[in-house]
Amino acid sequence: MTIQTTDTAASLAFAELDAYRELEAKQQPSWPDPAAVDAASAELAAQPPLVFAGEADLLRERLAAAARGEAFLLQGGDCAETFAAATADKIRDRVKTLLQMAVVLTYGASMPVIKVGRMAGQFAKPRSSDTETREGVALPAYRGDLVNGYDFTAESRTADPHRLVQGYHVSASTLNLIRAFTRGGFADLRQVHEWNKGFVSNPANQRYESLAAEIDRALRFMEACGVESAALTQTEFYVSHEALLLDYERPLTRVDSRTGQLYNTSGHMLWIGERTRDLDGAHVEFLSHVRNPIGVKLGPTASVDDALRLIDKLDPEREPGRLTFITRMGAGRIRDVLPGLLAGVRDAGATPLWVTDPMHGNGITTATGYKTRRFDDVMDELRGFFESHREAGTFPGGIHVELTGDDVTECLGGSENIDEAALETRYESLCDPRLNHRQSLELAFQVAEELKRIAR
Ligand code: PEP
Ligand code: CO
Repeated sequence: MTIQTTDTAASLAFAELDAYRELEAKQQPSWPDPAAVDAASAELAAQPPLVFAGEADLLRERLAAAARGEAFLLQGGDCAETFAAATADKIRDRVKTLLQMAVVLTYGASMPVIKVGRMAGQFAKPRSSDTETREGVALPAYRGDLVNGYDFTAESRTADPHRLVQGYHVSASTLNLIRAFTRGGFADLRQVHEWNKGFVSNPANQRYESLAAEIDRALRFMEACGVESAALTQTEFYVSHEALLLDYERPLTRVDSRTGQLYNTSGHMLWIGERTRDLDGAHVEFLSHVRNPIGVKLGPTASVDDALRLIDKLDPEREPGRLTFITRMGAGRIRDVLPGLLAGVRDAGATPLWVTDPMHGNGITTATGYKTRRFDDVMDELRGFFESHREAGTFPGGIHVELTGDDVTECLGGSENIDEAALETRYESLCDPRLNHRQSLELAFQVAEELKRIAR
């Protein structure tokens, strides 16, 4: 009897969720073989969840603290993860980079830093065009490893639903390694020096080294005083991705047996991209039915009304931590558009978490055809973010960045002054340009300075 009641409740929850199927879903691939998509979907639906409902709830609580001004969100990782780059070394270096940035920010701000990777699921990309043309040949655009291959051949660019299942398994092994790194001793604060090892020596990691020495001293002092805390020996680390590909997200959405509510178990936090945040579109509908913390990207054309209607749809209870607005205005626009948006939302009594993505509004293409970003523009947008929040009296609650632990040359500038000619030396991203390890640390030091001003 009980089982039947639970089943009925679950069917009702799924029936509500499936309202999205009637709505326009932008940025979906055209799968040549719908039966193969159904088979992949059934296979995914039979797999264990990647994350648990309780973890998503805990992240929501952490984000609520950030929305109140008591914590800061650091969210970062690749623009597009690839299956090939899901190696132990690359995952470790990305985790190390985020841990290092988090230490710099925590120490600077004396505030908890919530660590969320763009990892273990960031495999699907929105594209400005359905096709890509090279030397007169037009093929489907690369939509991320979850959909098709990057190689420019008809075979590789054909959407292949088997990749949905492969993406799940790569996410599972990535997450497994992240959990091992962050719970199994690697994230122990006493390892603060270790995280800096293996990276090419540079002024940013030398500066990090002296900070690590200060932390060491503080830890020895605490040890001598008998302070012991699990918080020092392991860290919470969450994963997130853009919930773009609904054929992946839907079969991984499950009913939590404790509460009967729906959770998307493909990641702790899911966000809706700038191109798919239409109020009456499928993505907003879909995520309105799951309990995970949700992010929405807001570009320079977003109005106060857009923001308020998104709040009504995605966070009708105005539950702290449920909704994060990730603004990506561009360095040239942020000071004009963000303060008004913040004030409008504030005046309506809503308190979403506000985070800046200083990357996606600052893309440029060089004469030689590289998609890049200037480190100075990224920093300028970051400063504009802090200024706008000072003006509106709201809390600048976090940063969302595209970065890698690798020594790539994808973004211009930074202290090593990567110039246009240098871009081609190690440009590895299949999508947007990422900050390299050194640029990521430099950014963290500068953001820490901004946070210190708030703490004062
Ligand atoms: C992204 O985060 O990689 C992305 C595509 O961002 P946006 O939706 O803000 O353009
Ligand atoms: Co990107």
